[in-house]
Amino acid sequence: AAAADARPLRQRLLVVANRLPVSAVRRGEDAWSLEISAGGLVSALLGVKEFEARWIGWAGVNVPDEVGQKALTKALAEKRCIPVFLDEETVHQYYNGYCNNILWPLFHYLGLPQEDRLATTRSFQSQFATYKKANQMFADVVNKHYEDGDVVWCHDYHLMFLPKCLKEYNRNMKVGWFLHTPFPSSEIHRTLPSRSELLRSVLAADLVGFHTYDYARHFVSACTRILGLEGTPEGVEDQGKLTRVAAFPIGIDSERFISALKLPQVQEHIKELTERFRGRKVMLGVDRLDMIKGIPQKILAFEKFLEENPLWRDKVVLLQIAVPTRTDVPEYQKLTSQVHEIVGRINGRFGTLTAVPIHHLDRSLDFYGLCALYAVTDVALVTSLRDGMNLVSYEFVACQDSKKGVLILSEFAGAAQSLGAGAILVNPWNITEVADSIRQALTMSAEEREKRHHHNFDHVTTHTAQEWAEMFVSELNDTVVEAQLRTRQ
Ligand code: G6P
Repeated sequence: AAAADARPLRQRLLVVANRLPVSAVRRGEDAWSLEISAGGLVSALLGVKEFEARWIGWAGVNVPDEVGQKALTKALAEKRCIPVFLDEETVHQYYNGYCNNILWPLFHYLGLPQEDRLATTRSFQSQFATYKKANQMFADVVNKHYEDGDVVWCHDYHLMFLPKCLKEYNRNMKVGWFLHTPFPSSEIHRTLPSRSELLRSVLAADLVGFHTYDYARHFVSACTRILGLEGTPEGVEDQGKLTRVAAFPIGIDSERFISALKLPQVQEHIKELTERFRGRKVMLGVDRLDMIKGIPQKILAFEKFLEENPLWRDKVVLLQIAVPTRTDVPEYQKLTSQVHEIVGRINGRFGTLTAVPIHHLDRSLDFYGLCALYAVTDVALVTSLRDGMNLVSYEFVACQDSKKGVLILSEFAGAAQSLGAGAILVNPWNITEVADSIRQALTMSAEEREKRHHHNFDHVTTHTAQEWAEMFVSELNDTVVEAQLRTRQ
């Protein structure tokens, strides 16, 4: 308790993630503009306010020159962000390669790349070496900014090697690691050539967190089956050292969405959209254009619905916002053309001279535009094939208190465990089931919608990002670091 009392009221946090909450765009030799980055991790972390937090990460841009680096460091400092500069080749091997072509698909049950086994194996090794080198670069920056008493919170699959690097610098550092994706069954994880090294590095952390209990359980089984360690209800034990493993379901800053809806500019936008789609029910999808989001499957299910329900054809519209992401990775490029092809075919098939059934946008919307769109939606479609949590479903619910629309949600999204009772849960691979659920959602009684909405709205407004962060950090504070343990013995 004495140690707890001595802690400053506002705990100093070093939040380390591959992507900073703002991404830089170069406007001149030493001029930069900063834009909010996309993705669930950033959306949640922006809601974490009650800490003295500093962010360490990559600004999403290659800055080879010193003048540019200095200017960007200064611009980011105003946002409490500290950049890690990665050169182009490192980004290619670490971010495009190991993170997004290997770990990301594997953790979402899409397997390892299969094109050319030999080439893959060769590049796999060099990509893993660069991954470790990049993690070391993050560790160097953390170490430079670390002060006694700080808590270091590492995020996501990009930085699985970081806990080990940090503990090598300083055994007393409190280090937590949180995964924003699913952690797959140990049978999947064991196919990864670097499976053991990655697990051991993560276990160097004092606390390891996941969105759901299932992911935590998969991680513990991977450690027991692959490393032969002992799993306990608290976590994983290795030669007397316990790494605490637990589930901490993330949330959003619901207040930010709810209060945005009251702003005149958002109200104006809501009016325009309502007018624009008068006479039609609005269905909405908001996703990064990623294969895990199941966008082709969703659109095919919508097609099936139109096919089977001709009376609905001129009474419903699907708005699909597909935010471009990881565009240097070939799999993502293929997906873009696949989605365009399907959308074009369906619009050709069911469109008229004055209206098309699908509006597909390859871009992000600004925050207020997005809030307005969520608010006018009748049915949101979240059909991820796998998803760590999926915060779009939370954002939609937060903006629906007057409309009380329906959420169709994949049972393979972490959010199914928290919003399952209010949503219609579907298997996104089953196009017939999704098509049926669209009809069910569009024809649901107001009473039923209200009941379901209340369940979800209560959850989203009480389990916020701030609460998530407080729970993780307080649990991390309560862990005893290895070095302290040794001096006590
Ligand atoms: C997911 C990941 C995040 C990532 C985000 C956006 O939410 O869990 O770590 O930042 O996608 O992807 P990107 O590759 O653009 O950072």
